[in-house]
Amino acid sequence: MNAAIRAVVRTALYHKLEIFGIRRGYQGLIEGDIFQMKSQDVSGIIQRGGTILKTARSKAFTTDDGMKSAYMQLQKHGIEGLILLGGDGTFRGANHFFEKYQMPATGVPCTIDKDLIGTDFTIGYDTAVNTAVDAIDKIKDTAEAHNRVFVIEVMGRDAGYIALNSGIACGAEDILIPEKIENMDEVICKIDFDEHRQKFVHIIVVAEGDELGGGKMVYESIMKRMPELDVRLCILGHIQRGGAPSQADRVLASRLGHAAVNALISGETQVMSGMINGVIVNTPFHQVVKGTTPIPGDMVEMIKALAG
Ligand code: F6P
Repeated sequence: MNAAIRAVVRTALYHKLEIFGIRRGYQGLIEGDIFQMKSQDVSGIIQRGGTILKTARSKAFTTDDGMKSAYMQLQKHGIEGLILLGGDGTFRGANHFFEKYQMPATGVPCTIDKDLIGTDFTIGYDTAVNTAVDAIDKIKDTAEAHNRVFVIEVMGRDAGYIALNSGIACGAEDILIPEKIENMDEVICKIDFDEHRQKFVHIIVVAEGDELGGGKMVYESIMKRMPELDVRLCILGHIQRGGAPSQADRVLASRLGHAAVNALISGETQVMSGMINGVIVNTPFHQVVKGTTPIPGDMVEMIKALAG
């Protein structure tokens, strides 16, 4: 996100615009936590995880009073256009806000979940999935040393992209994602099959939003039905949301931040700037939250084929 903030600030200043930062997202907007930004404010942040503007989940912004206060703060500070950096919640909030209040705005997809329409990748996803790969590789060493079954839960909210791609990259025996419905019998059957052919390492990567209930539920079901096994649960959690961003994320954030300012200047508003097949594409806010890019069918079939 810092690389995107840097790109937005520097592009705006390059075009001789005044630019203000709003701390803590919609909550900070309601509270008037707004300050003018200079080029130096974004120096040395491209390699830093997190966000210098901080973030917050705002209940107040879901209310009429909260949105009214937000609009009044924008008026008070003489703000004439908004650039929204965020994920699903940010763009849903924007849709409600712009139904009531007029303000030119563009957006940048910042979420590790990769759950927005209008972009092949969201900012943060590449870093998060590589963090998951690194962690799963390390866990695999223990699984191999002890002949253990490991259930590893990764983030993604309702989307399975982090699980799917980290699982494939780590050669997981099974991958459970919300987009591919599987029942517990099938999961048990695969472990059983591996046990019978003396393949004792069994890594199951589970998306937190999987239909079976996430890592803990899958772990508990295995323990209950196969008590003779040495099973461990590992929930990777917020480790996936931090750390230095990958090269791919830094460049994507720079391109999309730059594009969002250019779209606002050219009057193409209420759109999120994304990247599809390497090209900048601007998609209306109301469309970006309509779902996720479908998981390619070949990948779903591949999970089974490559598990060996
Ligand atoms: O939407 C990004 C995300 O990291 C999800 O993958 C995860 O479910 C959620 O945020 C965690 O949110 P919080 O930090 O508020 O628990």
